Amino acid sequence: MSEHILEVKNLCKYFGGVKAVDGISLKVPKNKIQAIIGPNGAGKSTTLNLLSGTYFPTSGNISYLDKDVTTLALHQRVHLGIARTFQKIRLFKQLSVLDNVIAGFHIHHHIPFWEYIIPAKAFKKDRQDCQEEAMGLLKFVGLSDRAHDRAGSLAYGQQRLLEIARALATRPQLFMLDEPAAGLNDTEVQFLMDRLIELKEKNMTIIVVEHNMKLVMNVADQIFVMDHGEYLFDGQPADVQSNPKVIAAYLGADDEVSV
Ligand SMILES: Nc1ncnc2c1ncn2[C@@H]1O[C@H](COP(=O)(O)OP(=O)(O)O)[C@@H](O)[C@H]1O
Ligand SMILES: [Mg+2]
Repeated sequence: MSEHILEVKNLCKYFGGVKAVDGISLKVPKNKIQAIIGPNGAGKSTTLNLLSGTYFPTSGNISYLDKDVTTLALHQRVHLGIARTFQKIRLFKQLSVLDNVIAGFHIHHHIPFWEYIIPAKAFKKDRQDCQEEAMGLLKFVGLSDRAHDRAGSLAYGQQRLLEIARALATRPQLFMLDEPAAGLNDTEVQFLMDRLIELKEKNMTIIVVEHNMKLVMNVADQIFVMDHGEYLFDGQPADVQSNPKVIAAYLGADDEVSV
């Protein structure tokens, strides 16, 4: 068994003439927090879309736990323990906070299919188990007192945390987040950082695409820097922060690399 949970070789995604991801190779070690950073349009979200099976690559390979998953669809990768959140929030806004998390459990339901039609004992038991586990996840993200409110009524930062709880309901080994700190205030960012570290301590591997340099520099074990769809640099936070190529890429853009 490799010590890497994910190995990406020469990944490319072209949209017509746009080379959104252009020859990215990356190895993500198990039980670490891997950050992916880069200026706007660098190809970070496209990379996560390729890793999660939201998009398929133009060329290249993705191997997860030594298995080639390049052609597997999103739901198949979820079954293998890969989960993600999106840059743009995707919740069932009309459903309760709790039901949003319960929806995340559906892939692990232990119910014979006919019991969906004629609810019986197993269904009730399963629903009860899900509720308990969902409440645990809501507690983890600090939303237990909002469990019965409509998801759409939550503040923006809370909706992002709810998305995290819902993705965790699939019980991932590899959890990928696309700009989870966007729109969060300082207290919420700190809370999020603590949660990510706690997940790592529970043996999860995390890939986080993030603009918030405070978060990246404080939680990441390794940082992979992209620019114009290509590899620019990778290393530990201190190396990345002082690297002239990285600084130049950020200076050329409107973003800042300073903490
Ligand atoms: N579905 C798409 N169709 C066409 N172009 C896209 C699509 N998704 C992303 N792109 C382009 O690919 C490049 C990288 O985008 P993206 O991965 O969203 O960057 P980042 O997340 O680093 O800001 C951009 O030029 C963007 O316009
Ligand atoms: Mg993006």
